[in-house]
Amino acid sequence: MNPDPYYINSPSNSLEPSLTTQVFDASNSMEFHRTLEAYQPTPLVELKELAAEMGVGKIYIKDESFRFGLKAFKGLGASYAIHKILEKDPSIETFCTATDGNHGRAVAWSANLLGKSARIFVPKDTTYFRIEAIELEGAIVEKFNGNYEETCAYAKIMAEGNNWTLVQDTAEQDYEEIPAHIMAGYFTHFRELEDSLHPASEPEVDIVFLQSGVGSWPAAAAWYYLNRYGEKKPKLVIVEPEEAAGFLASINAGKRTSPSGTYKTAMAGLNCGIPSLSAWSILKNTADAAMAIDDETMEEAVNTLNFPLGEDPKVVSGESGAGGFAGFIALMSDPRFEELKFSLNINEKTRFLFFNTEGDTDPQNFRKIIGEI
Ligand SMILES: Cc1ncc(COP(=O)(O)O)c(C=O)c1O
Repeated sequence: MNPDPYYINSPSNSLEPSLTTQVFDASNSMEFHRTLEAYQPTPLVELKELAAEMGVGKIYIKDESFRFGLKAFKGLGASYAIHKILEKDPSIETFCTATDGNHGRAVAWSANLLGKSARIFVPKDTTYFRIEAIELEGAIVEKFNGNYEETCAYAKIMAEGNNWTLVQDTAEQDYEEIPAHIMAGYFTHFRELEDSLHPASEPEVDIVFLQSGVGSWPAAAAWYYLNRYGEKKPKLVIVEPEEAAGFLASINAGKRTSPSGTYKTAMAGLNCGIPSLSAWSILKNTADAAMAIDDETMEEAVNTLNFPLGEDPKVVSGESGAGGFAGFIALMSDPRFEELKFSLNINEKTRFLFFNTEGDTDPQNFRKIIGEI
């Protein structure tokens, strides 16, 4: 276990140029997404009564459970990456990935959309509903008898052996460009906020909570905010399950490392090992804090969003989707985070932004969490 469930960082807010930042600079993901029939910006909601109850300024949630009918944001990354790969080589027929659910469903959906096929590998603990959802997008799914990291290694071998194109969202030394396109695909939902919370002058939010798996999504967010606002970027808090807190372990160790937890968590999308190489190099220089939460806090977050106060809108948030918001709940109520709360200077004016990155992608477990079964 990590010594503390949090880490307060002093980010340099400067990044070395790399292949990843080159891909980001040249990206046009929103323009691509707008060409897709299924494309629509997802809703931004405000929980006014909850903000009053918790004694903070604003609570905003960008609800990605409405993205492309996939109940999660991951289609943004996979579709843009597959589009970029096919731009270079339209003859590719089969795409392959390892996934804990959402990314695989997104790869399957995107491949299908572009007339191609997909082979998807899932770790041994992947639930029936998540596998079925990927199969319904027309992919062949295989369960591998290992955890997420081991399944990634297996998918790589299978892709090489069968001449499939690997669309993995984790960058390694010799595998950087495709993950960078996936991350660039995520910029679309940050740009969707440019006529509301992300105006050009300065952000209208103070703290953004970002739930992290391999770190690609939060790193895309961090790059977006740094690029748009420089030193004026909002504070960024990375939230992970305490049993799979790879970024927290790495920032504590001062180098990219695998977490030492048990990988037992219902937050399947966040149940990853070592952070992606490119994500790590971005996040260590841009994140203001990292924190780890347990499944109980996640369940409280899911319920808070599902059973809102008074006139606040209801948000259907799955286990990983609620991760960032769960970090906020822990911060506001768990005395172990007192120092972190103080360092983030939270007061009655603070404006928070969360991304509900998935809806009820495992409907059965969701119903269990909200007490329906
Ligand atoms: C719902 C959800 N939220 C957040 C994440 C985190 O994204 P990343 O693995 O890029 O850090 C994932 C990853 O699968 C996810 O499925």
